[in-house]
Amino acid sequence: MTQKKHTPPLHIVIVGHVDHGKSTLIGRLLYDTNSLPDGKVEELQEICKRRGTDVLEWSFLLDSYQAERDQAITIDTTQIWFKTAQRDYVIIDAPGHREFLKNMISGAAQADAAILVVDAKEGLQEQTRRHAYLLKLLGLQQIAVVINKMDAVEQAQKRFIEVSKSVQDYLASIHLSATHILPISARHGTMIASRDETMSWYDGPTLLETLDSFQSHTSRQDAPLRFPIQDVYRFDEKRILVGRIETGSVKVGDTLFFSPTNEKAVVTSLEQWPEREPRKLKAVAGESIGLTLNQPIFVERGHLASHEQEETLPFLTNVFRTHLFWLSHKPLKVGNSYKVRYGTNEAMVTVQSIEKVIDTQDLHDDTSSGEVARNEVAEVTLRARNLLALDPYEENARIGRLVIYENHDVAGGGIISMQGYPDQRQIAPKSQNIYE
Ligand code: GTP
Ligand code: MG
Repeated sequence: MTQKKHTPPLHIVIVGHVDHGKSTLIGRLLYDTNSLPDGKVEELQEICKRRGTDVLEWSFLLDSYQAERDQAITIDTTQIWFKTAQRDYVIIDAPGHREFLKNMISGAAQADAAILVVDAKEGLQEQTRRHAYLLKLLGLQQIAVVINKMDAVEQAQKRFIEVSKSVQDYLASIHLSATHILPISARHGTMIASRDETMSWYDGPTLLETLDSFQSHTSRQDAPLRFPIQDVYRFDEKRILVGRIETGSVKVGDTLFFSPTNEKAVVTSLEQWPEREPRKLKAVAGESIGLTLNQPIFVERGHLASHEQEETLPFLTNVFRTHLFWLSHKPLKVGNSYKVRYGTNEAMVTVQSIEKVIDTQDLHDDTSSGEVARNEVAEVTLRARNLLALDPYEENARIGRLVIYENHDVAGGGIISMQGYPDQRQIAPKSQNIYE
């Protein structure tokens, strides 16, 4: 499938409680956007007939994707594509897939937006709350809540208002809000690509209209520049710093400020592969680039470039708080050391204290065990040996996240907070120039 010019694909994740209709919704989205390969619908009708269901079970479609995926080796096959007139969409994985949470937390699969599916009959359930909390910790801010199976409830409008309110209340209590809440029937395709008379009382946007109103990472261009250095290449005399611009933009002639070294240099060129004429003079969030500097200052993988204006610099600190989701079978405890990765940097940290262990069902604070067990959410304070350049999540949702590793495996992850901790940049010694 080709990408639309200038509009990057929007990566979406679909979450929600067991049986609330995630797979059915995916199947229906593919059908309604004509994204299914020829013959798939006939194949599905055949399967449904064999299994004795009189209505089309769209979730069976996902079973066939799952079967293909189980045999596949490449990560790409865990992505399902569809498109609208506006742009292309990628559905990242499907919950229930073993590696789903790890991929989401590690950022291997980074979503721009989420659809939270809630069964109109059952309302808010355990996994609805847990997944909503996870969306918060993944830094997702574009959320469409769909109240599904509207065809199966009596007094639909009244029920929709009731369920919407309970979802909104829960989201508000974790400081999250839905961009849109809409009633749908995934099975019958109501309010997905089109509306029908069964829900004439609803006059808001359909699901596809809602998704089309979301922004992909182009919107990150307006934020302050964050360019985490991935690698430094040397070609003869030339030294090229490579990486992906996470937020903001950079131009030839800009003065860059590097953290944590507090060094400055001016951008002399932007490099592209393969080389193209005319040479690029500006690059923006989402682009992977290489650049050269006017001075041989010391820069290595993990350093973070920003613009020199003071108010836009990242924090420099050796102690910070994180609001995390824990995945490892071994509990997180005070005194434990872990490797963390944020941006392109890795550092060793020690757990200094566990502030809160949060029960995602009723949000009460339960720190009595003194540790954070698998699938728990917590606020902990971490201490590093060196000064780290960080952005709190509140200031930069893209960079302000971290992943915690235990023996090379993802153990947890979450968002960074600097609440209660000062920026230590002023006391940081300026590093000495190292000429290479
Ligand atoms: P898990 O993957 O097990 O978590 O479930 P899921 O969320 O993917 O749910 P799935 O799509 O498998 O749907 C569960 C059941 O709900 C199936 O029997 C669907 O046919 C049914 N269902 C899904 N959407 C609708 C709907 O809009 N209306 C009605 N009446 N049933 C629906
Ligand atoms: Mg499913």
